[in-house]
Amino acid sequence: MAGLHFQYWNESEIIHEGAEARVTSGLWLGIPAVLKARRKRGYRHPQLDARLTKSRISVEAKILSRLQPNNFPSPRLLELDLEAGWMVLSRINGIPIYESLINESVSEKELEMVGHTIRNLHELGFSHGDLTTHNIMIDANRKISLLDFGLSRISAELEHFGQDLQVLNECLSASHSDFDGAIEMVISGYRKASTPTITPSAESVISRFNDIRNRVRYLG
Ligand SMILES: Nc1ncnc2c1ncn2[C@@H]1O[C@H](COP(=O)(O)OP(=O)(O)O)[C@@H](O)[C@H]1O
Ligand SMILES: [Mg+2]
Repeated sequence: MAGLHFQYWNESEIIHEGAEARVTSGLWLGIPAVLKARRKRGYRHPQLDARLTKSRISVEAKILSRLQPNNFPSPRLLELDLEAGWMVLSRINGIPIYESLINESVSEKELEMVGHTIRNLHELGFSHGDLTTHNIMIDANRKISLLDFGLSRISAELEHFGQDLQVLNECLSASHSDFDGAIEMVISGYRKASTPTITPSAESVISRFNDIRNRVRYLG
């Protein structure tokens, strides 16, 4: 890959090949890492494609570098090449909760922790933008981390926070419908993690989420 210092990167395997990105695991200067490379989209105009790639990578890099000093549970940004469209992130030793919801059980406490983590992100002023169960990781110690910040907002508004909860709600009811009441547990954790002085308050985000949820219900 252009600009990649191969003497630093020791690749082991492809862990994800999506429409937008290819993610490979390996070692970066000996640190367990992943290389996330944005893929070229054939159907888009090359210049538009390059612009979109650059903007998603730079947003993700910016958010990750602001989350790090706050000890937020997300990968660390290790290296980045905006022009070539790739970044190296520290590897999270876990699996997406999508898989753990399907293969094993996820406890009430863990779902509350997901809500807690989302509220922490929102209190830092960021929305996630793509909060699916593939972008929430759980590790062997049942610790929750978030990934994939390419659609995040740095100065998020109430609607963006509400949308985060709605995206997760839709995922939970579409792919994990046997986990009855999962979103309520997430909401309970979201509420418990709230700092009263920070606006928008957890209550106002939850109430916006309920508005969005009802809007969607009546339309659909
Ligand atoms: N830092 C990381 N540590 C471990 N796994 C990761 C990491 N980053 C990505 N992955 C894995 O690769 C998948 C896709 O990465 P993601 O950043 O979500 O890209 P995309 O934009 O294609 O969804 C994730 O769902 C996760 O399984
Ligand atoms: Mg993703």
